[in-house]
Amino acid sequence: MAVGLMDIKGQYAELQDRIEDAVLSVLRSGRVILGPNVKGFEEEASTYMGTTGSVGVANGTDGLTIALRALGVGPGDEVITVPFTFYATPEAIAQSGAKPVFVDILPDTLCIDPDAIKAAITPRTKAVMPVDLFGLPADANAVRKVAEAHGLSVVEDACQAWGATYDGRRAGSLGDLGVFSFFPTKNLGGYGDGGLVTGHSEVLVQRARELRFHGSKDKKTFTDIGFNSRLDELQAAILRLELGVIDEWNGRRALVAEWYDEYLPDEVVRPAVPDGHTHVYHLYMIRHPRRDDIAAACKERQVDCAAYYTTPMQLQPVFADMGHKLGDFPNTDEAAATNLAIPMHPNLTEEQVKEVAAAVEAGLA
Ligand SMILES: Cc1ncc(COP(=O)(O)O)c(C=O)c1O
Repeated sequence: MAVGLMDIKGQYAELQDRIEDAVLSVLRSGRVILGPNVKGFEEEASTYMGTTGSVGVANGTDGLTIALRALGVGPGDEVITVPFTFYATPEAIAQSGAKPVFVDILPDTLCIDPDAIKAAITPRTKAVMPVDLFGLPADANAVRKVAEAHGLSVVEDACQAWGATYDGRRAGSLGDLGVFSFFPTKNLGGYGDGGLVTGHSEVLVQRARELRFHGSKDKKTFTDIGFNSRLDELQAAILRLELGVIDEWNGRRALVAEWYDEYLPDEVVRPAVPDGHTHVYHLYMIRHPRRDDIAAACKERQVDCAAYYTTPMQLQPVFADMGHKLGDFPNTDEAAATNLAIPMHPNLTEEQVKEVAAAVEAGLA
């Protein structure tokens, strides 16, 4: 039997009746933009996150750009981030008018190397954007230390990490502002696009709230160039339901990770989970130099798998003027050449995990 990388249909089936009731109720209410569900979800998300306030936006990419703009980042500024991430991370920096500056990742967690940040700071640096990659929070205390020492803001790209924890705190609450994506494949995923900006400072959250509606304070007077970027009521109504089960879903993902740890061949590198972190396995990423052989064996056995960010951001054509070449960020290059996501979702069974592990083993035979 084929094993899928994700299981959106299965997750839907689990909540089907409740989702359909909630969607019908929105449709019948006639309140489809910035109504009670967006407000309710923002409040519930803030409570979950331990933040002061949250702002539902149209997608994670807009959320990152809005967060930077709320912090006053713009043309002439530099923002330090990682090249081993989805394009939206540096793209959002560029959208704000600032320049993305790449630093390498750590070889085990694949998240930003806090020591590398120091070396990349210039008088133009305004912010750091760590990415909680594949569901693991970056080392927020170390990032915060460097940022504070140099007067930089931190925007946490938590798009892949709803529910993960670091030092007892939630991913998304670890920077000045945190940003999520509810793209359907995310561990907390909607049925369309959606995103959230969350934070501890009322002033910053309010600024993000204004930016999502054309930068206006009162929706009548326009003093800024903002965005038209709102989470919609249908998505918010569904996300509120999922919020009630996300910890359970993340727990089931963690159990699948335990099974993988048991059944995968020893030589395959598993996702690192340092002390004090919990991982939510948005993706379960293995690493091995023979990644392509493993992928071929998986394909043969109808086990879905996918390599991510194989051309990392510093080598993308859009950033060619930065002049980066292979070797500038060795840990990024290595991760790009060896990673492979294998199936991960809350409905995987132990038998399916064994099937996947057998396919991986066959690839290394
Ligand atoms: C790390 C990261 N940042 C940003 C985004 C952008 O989110 P969205 O697709 O909702 O715009 C994504 C997801 O696509 C992501 O994985």
